[in-house]
Amino acid sequence: MAAARVTPIGVLLSGRGSNFLALQAAIERAELPARIAVVISNVADAPGLVRARELGLAARALPHGESASREAHDQRMLDALAEAGAEWVCLAGYMRLLSARFVAGYAPRILNIHPSLLPAFPGLHAQRQALAAGVRVAGCTVHLVDEGLDSGPIVVQRAVPVLDDDTEETLAARILVEEHRAYPEALRRLLVEPWAIEGRRLRFGA
Ligand code: GAR
Repeated sequence: MAAARVTPIGVLLSGRGSNFLALQAAIERAELPARIAVVISNVADAPGLVRARELGLAARALPHGESASREAHDQRMLDALAEAGAEWVCLAGYMRLLSARFVAGYAPRILNIHPSLLPAFPGLHAQRQALAAGVRVAGCTVHLVDEGLDSGPIVVQRAVPVLDDDTEETLAARILVEEHRAYPEALRRLLVEPWAIEGRRLRFGA
């Protein structure tokens, strides 16, 4: 049997990087026909970037403050991604909006993970928003990225219960467990299955 094609991906992150590590772990378990070609962070000392270096991955710090505009910063990232040969971009806790130029450069091959059942609770502090709204079910969403904030066709969602004694921290921790399952699952399906976008829907199947 022919080996599955290994797709080079670029990861953008701003902080801890646990979703990046979940992708890397799935690759190491041979569950994901991909390789991380480069990890880029807009935060020079982001723990996720430090971990990428420890793992021997290509890691680039591109602090956004060094660029005059969002467009200029995003162009630096596009150049770094192109240099690494990345065919897909995975946002893993990348806490900045992408410019239209960046999205145009990679769409539809940009994925994001967000800690809510979108379209509920986009933006910052999604878990806090869920608690404030009193919902009984929360979760995470992996979606293709468009120019909007946490919008774009949904690939995978996973739900968790909200418990009466939940705090933002306990709810975030319960959701994070599902994030680490959902992200590799979503990327794997996109890489190995046929899919198409119809309106706001992503449909798997030929
Ligand atoms: C994750 O919970 C992710 O869903 C969220 O940031 C966290 C990053 O954690 N992303 C967003 O809120 C994007 N709107 P990580 O650095 O450990 O992967």
